[in-house]
Amino acid sequence: MKIFLDTADITEIRRAAEAGLIDGVTTNPSLMAKVGATREPADLFLEICEAVDGPVSAEVVVLDAEGMIEQGHRLAKIHDNIVIKVPLTEAGLRACSALTNEGIRVNVTLCFSPTQAHLAAKAGATYISPFIGRIDDVAGDGMELVGQIRQIYDNYEIDTEILAASIRHPQHMVQALLLGADCGTLPPKVLYQLLEHPLTDKGLEGFMADWKSLGREL
Ligand code: E4P
Repeated sequence: MKIFLDTADITEIRRAAEAGLIDGVTTNPSLMAKVGATREPADLFLEICEAVDGPVSAEVVVLDAEGMIEQGHRLAKIHDNIVIKVPLTEAGLRACSALTNEGIRVNVTLCFSPTQAHLAAKAGATYISPFIGRIDDVAGDGMELVGQIRQIYDNYEIDTEILAASIRHPQHMVQALLLGADCGTLPPKVLYQLLEHPLTDKGLEGFMADWKSLGREL
């Protein structure tokens, strides 16, 4: 499964990319607002694209299809890594279809149902982003949606990639892996939670203490 970092924080992106842990980045307007007050958005997107060798989702911020296509064109010119993120609305799918026909990759975001995911694929989406955590927030089952989309895409040999989004904790990631999501996007905190284990820490402490007791240099 491809792992994307769900942030616009360049320090976190560099840290994860340099450790070889991520295949790309997803951003959204809220994540941009957290870090971008002093930056030109285009400059920040370029810096992110230069830090990670993979897709970088950059979201349009208008509601009409023509406006989305125009913003998509401008964003796509920033760097080859840019993937245009559009919302799962009629206008978003219209923009998705137009941009895809021009060879520009599109991530359709804010997906909350299997029929939405099917229509996004019809419109040529490269990625579909079901928002797991936000479904769980309203007492739904985000992972059930991932499983349904997997089955629908497999039934009809649809090659749109399922990008499990709004991942909030390691168990979401385990389930997304088991269900066969193609990608998962996670905040930095969850990425590092994935590699922690108390037995690793305990084992390492023991190895270091035993080596020290040997009193030799390596
Ligand atoms: C995905 O592309 C979104 O940026 C993100 O995963 C949303 O996560 P949230 O629901 O935790 O804000």
